[in-house]
Amino acid sequence: MKKRAVMLVALLLAGQGYWAVAQKAKTASDLQIAQKVEALLKKMTLDEKIGQMNQVNGNGAATGPIKANPNDIELLKKGLIGSMLNVNGSANAYQLQKIAVEQTRLRIPLIIGFDVIHGYKTIFPVPLGDAASFDLASIENGARVAATEASVAGVNWTFAPMVDIARDARWGRIMEGAGEDPYYGSLVAAARVRGFQGKSLAEKHSIAACAKHFAAYGAAEAGRDYNLVDISNRTLFEVYLRPFKASVDAGVATFMNSFNDLGGVPATANTLLVKETLKRDWKFDGFVVSDWDSIGEMVVHGSAVDKKDAANQAIANQCDMDMCTNAYVSHLKELVNEGKVSVAQIDDAVRRILTLKYKLGLFDNPFKNCDTELEAKLTMQPAFLDAARDAARKSFVLLKNDKGILPIDARYKSIALVGPLADSKKDMIGTWIGMGDAKDAVTMLTGLKEQLPAGATITYAKGCDVLGDDTSGFVEAIAAAKAADVVVMAIGEAGNMSGEGLSRADITIPGKQVELLNELVKLGKPVVAVVFSGRPLALSNISDKASAILQAWFPGTMAGPALADVIYGKYSPSGKLPATFPRAVGQCPIYYNHKNTGRPTGDPNFQYWSHYIDLPNTPLYPFGFGLSYASFEYSPVKVNKSTLSMKEPIVVSVEVKNSGKVAAEEVVQLYVRDLKGSVTRPVRELKGISKIMLQPGESREVKFTLRSSDLAFYTRDMSFKAEPGDFKVFVGTDSNTNNEASFTLVP
Ligand code: NOJ
Repeated sequence: MKKRAVMLVALLLAGQGYWAVAQKAKTASDLQIAQKVEALLKKMTLDEKIGQMNQVNGNGAATGPIKANPNDIELLKKGLIGSMLNVNGSANAYQLQKIAVEQTRLRIPLIIGFDVIHGYKTIFPVPLGDAASFDLASIENGARVAATEASVAGVNWTFAPMVDIARDARWGRIMEGAGEDPYYGSLVAAARVRGFQGKSLAEKHSIAACAKHFAAYGAAEAGRDYNLVDISNRTLFEVYLRPFKASVDAGVATFMNSFNDLGGVPATANTLLVKETLKRDWKFDGFVVSDWDSIGEMVVHGSAVDKKDAANQAIANQCDMDMCTNAYVSHLKELVNEGKVSVAQIDDAVRRILTLKYKLGLFDNPFKNCDTELEAKLTMQPAFLDAARDAARKSFVLLKNDKGILPIDARYKSIALVGPLADSKKDMIGTWIGMGDAKDAVTMLTGLKEQLPAGATITYAKGCDVLGDDTSGFVEAIAAAKAADVVVMAIGEAGNMSGEGLSRADITIPGKQVELLNELVKLGKPVVAVVFSGRPLALSNISDKASAILQAWFPGTMAGPALADVIYGKYSPSGKLPATFPRAVGQCPIYYNHKNTGRPTGDPNFQYWSHYIDLPNTPLYPFGFGLSYASFEYSPVKVNKSTLSMKEPIVVSVEVKNSGKVAAEEVVQLYVRDLKGSVTRPVRELKGISKIMLQPGESREVKFTLRSSDLAFYTRDMSFKAEPGDFKVFVGTDSNTNNEASFTLVP
């Protein structure tokens, strides 16, 4: 009934653009918004419309090469700015919104964007670490906390989640995503979108999310940021686009173009991406923002003559908002007058932008979130800090634990804490820290001291810096270690060695840290390495020396308490690697779901097969790997039927038992292998995860339902479907599990 009424109103309304929007409108409130947008559009001059498509940097620190323009306030007053990014704090946001809604002719509010990537004030683990929890509820909650803090500071829109698949640890931005797997990446993308946007964008603490960077930015050649990408369309759709599609399905409000050249055409003007795939095929009804000057950079790429040409190409490919090039505001009108761009193209973009502003409730209350009192009250509240601590301890991945060295318990009376990252606040929060303040971060030294077991002692010596050749601190560190029962070394990269523009050609632990670790190991004491990094590091030069290795990423504000929880055994590690850890940089790109090749195995002394002569093909630690203080026994995999039909699913199950002595969580993982396809298929693909908590001695049956649609892929003719044939299914503790069964997909 409601639907019919909605259709009726739609029918009564004139205007082609309106009709297009009304067709897509899902609810009565969508329809009302569409009506308002149309009415507003009619009042707008061409300049005002183009103004809505213009985004400039606000008064906060710039996150790209162009500085804020002193004339921006004048432009804003003229209605020539639709959005600002990097506006810090509610007082600033209030001032700018006030100009927009009080001094412009049509009083259209701004949409204020900011990179809220892993927290706004309360900083959570870097996204790659957060993804290592394999705990979707925790990931969603982290985004919700970030949205809440950001919203009361006047932020309406975050440039997150970054859903780029990354298979190359050299790429600094691997830190910002969920790792290498398209299935898991899709789950994480949807969880983050839900967290930022809440149930409705109109909610007080919801902010619009942005799936970025569209697309294939993570496949930058040689792992060097901003470098070109040249991959097949099959890989593009099968691997890189899947988390983007999942973001659309989760209702993400916006998309961002990527910087890279994709197969010879910069993404911002790549017709296959936004125009054909996102808006035509996926029917995305939100808007697309360019990346920072990605329109202008087309000139530098060599695919546009000048900024006017770049603007023409970008609008032709349906980029709705120009971030920081000023190309739309400078050239679109001229392009319309020359007949190169139609008003309908502009209206389509503006309609999308205004619709989001309405959905966020900005027209009703542009200041809804600019609340200095609430900002002070809500920010970093205890519940948020607890959530950050929990997310951090869930993100740690135990890579090695010889003879159960960890947790540090009553066996050890004295602890030596060594290393440049043990007491460095700024390195705990990593990069893209929103408005996070290093001084709020709790270091590992503080955390370990605060929870020090009764009767135990802890001594700290830095030993060396992260970078550089200075070894003068070794003496003190060695002396501290000599006097202790166990040594813990905080080792790895500095917090600002991963992120945008921070690719590395050498992904080993830098500086003199490994040398120091070697000295400590020589003492014959157990040495626990706690590794901080925003990427998989090549850990071969410590993996056989340290007795235990805990991968800690950059854990965020609550690093210290979370590390103490795990190191002292209050919480058993449960994280799993969302990205493969190579033995050496030469193996990059490396990922578990690779193809088999025609010569996958052979005699090491024989030349003609796919291998390195100086290293095994296998990684140091595979995707999905992570140990626990408990131990888990898996029953053989059971499949309820040996055939799966196109319509009837099968159920795959295992019994998992905690045969250890402590309660712990395990991430049960299901992989499939399609033995033969019309195109070659990966050796394994993740198709299911289940994180379960088991008490000592407890067993649980874990069931996965597998449908034919789960087996779909881009076939030889690029249709997306499952092909009948034989499959293997694996269920176990990581991507190397050989706990397998078989089934056949029948037509
Ligand atoms: C460039 C980055 O690529 C993008 O991720 C970010 O959102 C924008 N700058 C804005 O800071």
